[in-house]
Order: sequence, then C-alpha cells, then structure tokens
Amino acid sequence: MRVLVLGSGAREHAVAWKFSLSKRISGLYIAPGNAGTDEIGENLPDVSPLDTEAVLRVCRDKHISHVFVGPEQPLDAGIIDALTEEDIPAVGPHRQAARLESSKVFSKRFMNTYGIPTADAREFVNFQDFKQYVVNTSGSLVIKKNGLAAGKGVFESDDTEELLRFGRSVLKDDTLLVEEFLQGWEISVFAITDGNSYIVLPHCADFKKAGEDDTGPNTGGMGAICPVPIVTTSLKQEIRTCIIEPTFRGLRESGLSYKGVVYFGLMITENGPKLLEYNVRFGDPEAQVLLPLIQSDFGNLSDSIIRGTLDTFPLRVSDNSAVGVVIASGGYPDKYNKMLPVTISEKIANDVCVFHASTVLKNGRIHTNGGRCFTVVGTNKDIIKAYTKVYNAVPEISFRQSWYRKDIAKKFFYDLQEV
Ligand code: AMP
Ligand code: GLY
Repeated sequence: MRVLVLGSGAREHAVAWKFSLSKRISGLYIAPGNAGTDEIGENLPDVSPLDTEAVLRVCRDKHISHVFVGPEQPLDAGIIDALTEEDIPAVGPHRQAARLESSKVFSKRFMNTYGIPTADAREFVNFQDFKQYVVNTSGSLVIKKNGLAAGKGVFESDDTEELLRFGRSVLKDDTLLVEEFLQGWEISVFAITDGNSYIVLPHCADFKKAGEDDTGPNTGGMGAICPVPIVTTSLKQEIRTCIIEPTFRGLRESGLSYKGVVYFGLMITENGPKLLEYNVRFGDPEAQVLLPLIQSDFGNLSDSIIRGTLDTFPLRVSDNSAVGVVIASGGYPDKYNKMLPVTISEKIANDVCVFHASTVLKNGRIHTNGGRCFTVVGTNKDIIKAYTKVYNAVPEISFRQSWYRKDIAKKFFYDLQEV
C-alpha cells in the first residue's frame, strides 16, 4: 500500500505512526504533516488538504493507493467525492454524509428521524422568532451554530442577554439551533465502518477545559483517556442499542453509508445516554490514546474498511489503559506564540508516544507552530501507572511558556477507588 494521510495534527501523527508500523506499507506520505510525521514518512508541506487539485495531483505523482483523511474540513469540501471519481480508495465519508458533522441542523434531523436520544432542539433562521423563544424560556440553554466553527460554535448560558448576543452574531450568516441543556458526563465513542458492517472501538473521554478540575475556557482538548473505567457493560450495550445501531440503520436507509470513522459525542445523563453530536472522523486528542491500543496491523484494518470486509476482520485491541496529555503554548486557547524552539530530552522513556501537532523543523530544530503542540501518551495495564508514566515524560518536552493540565485521568481513578 502507498498511503497518503491528510492533516498536520497529533491525530494525523498517530494515524501515520500506525500505518508506519504496518507490514503492508511501501510508501507513506503526509500532507502537509509536521516535524513528527517527518520522522516516519515523507511530508508534503506544500499540499493543503483543502486543495483538492493538489491532493489529486500528488496521488497520481506518488502512485498513492490509499488515502486516510484526518480532519473534517476536507471531508466537508468533498475530498472523498473527488478521490472516488479518480478511483483512488479513500477512508472517509462523501460530502453528503459529512453533513452529519458539518451541519448541526442536518444531524439533529437525522437523530430525530431515526429515534436516536438527543437534546430537544429548535431551529431558528430569524432573530425575532429566536428572541421570543429565548425570552420566554427560563434556565440554561445551549445555542449551536449550524455550520463548522472549529469548536467555537456552541454557547451555553442562562443569561438571556448573552444568549441573544451570541444568537444574533450566528444568525447574521447561518441558521442556529437552541437546545435544552443536558447534565451528565461525556464520552467519545468511535465506530469504524465499511458501509455495511461496523466495529465499535474502546470508549474514550476527552478533557475539554483548559483548567484543572474541568474549569476555565473550552479548548480543542487538553488530554484524553481510553478506555473509560466507569463505563459499565450494560451502559455499553445501551449505547449500542439506542444510538449506534439506529445510526447505521439510518445511514443505510438514507443512502448515506460510508467507509470511515463515525464519532458519537455522548452525554451520559440520569435518563441514559444522549447523543450531543456526530463527527465523521477520529477525535483529537482521542485518536492519540485509542490508536496505541489497536494491535491489529493498521494497514490491514484500513484496507478492510475500503474492501468492505470488516465483518470478518479479527480486530485485536490491547487491554491496556492509555492516558494522553496535551502540551500547549502559553496563552492557548486565546492568543499564543508560535515558532518557539522545542527541547525534547533524551531521558524520555522510549515506551511513551510523543505525537506532534503542527510542529515544523527550522534549521534542523523542532519549533512549535500552533496552540496545542504535542500529545504525550503513556500506556499500562493499570490506569494509575499509565498516568504516572505520562506525567514523568511530559516535563522532558519543553519550550518557552509551555503548559499542560496536571490532572488528566485523575477523576476516573478517584471514582475507581470509591467503587
Ligand atoms: P458539540 O459540538 O455539539 O459536541 O458541542 C460541544 C460541547 O458543548 C459538548 O462536548 C458539550 O460539552 C457541550 N454541549 C453541547 N450540547 C450540549 C447540551 N445540549 N447540553 C449540555 N452541553 C452541551
Ligand atoms: N475531541 C473533540 C474533537 O475531536 O472534536
């Protein structure tokens, strides 16, 4: 297989790393890639995943036989449709199905059509109607911009003025949804599908807040764990029956079935699991903790998605726990500096994974080039040992004003100790 991975984050580094370990690989390219992927494959820094023509050209030039798309934006722009037209096998949904992520209105209608438990919601296109609804509703509400917004399209408040201000700004150029505010705890569930059958992967949890104890502003994700110790077998079964199975039935019945990853963002409430959102790709940082636990050859697995043979694929998954900690640039998630030189100590344990995000090589030295710069992942049979391992490694990566959360995974083993 000659594989092209699209993207430049730590998720794509983790995907490319799994491909690099596959016996099936005879060429590995990452567009545009980062300083980490540069060590395991050939980066194509001038190829933007959003430039469809450039992607097709490079597929022809490098004789690519398999494309794996990391982020959502190229999927929404129709990269899979373009690759399919050229007969280039690719993992990801067609544009129509990518609307499950790129349109909150479309995905909410899909959930309602197929009876999938989710927050009650109303659509608005007009400010006066929206205002009347908000003014006459008490308590917290969640407002969601319909289109992709890189994590900035969801706003929760019980303050009418704030809600109206956010809603007005969204309605200038998009539709919005107003949802009931759900309480509970969140998990991310991933299923891979070949268009007919699917395999559910171990459940993950993402730590979205910047501050310790889940406080402070939202981020793209400051850490993740896999699996989630407090998810019981009966909860897993309920998620499968009430959410995953009807989703795949809906995809088949609506002609939207695709080959790729379906991401279920769930809130576990006292009334059972509710689906907050679909994404049509792996999560970041969830992929960084999930992929190290997959023991099967990743080239074979990805090829099985394309060939439609997942129903007989003997997926092997480690029973280890993985804890991933994100190292971010000072100021993130607000304004932050880029191009800071990075030092990675040789003392870092060699069984810890270090996934880069947007880093670049300048004069032979790694430099940061984004807000979230690395995900460090430790694995062990025991989640507490995985936690200790990752936190021993994190200080070995340093750059000016770098920071990270010190409590990733901790709330889960406190819960464990209480049981
Ligand atoms: P979404 O992009 O729809 O997943 O929303 C982003 C985040 O906003 C979620 O991960 C939740 O933390 C929060 N959120 C979204 N919808 C709701 C809701 N109906 N009730 C409470 N929190 C929500
Ligand atoms: N971890 C959240 C996301 O990838 O959207």
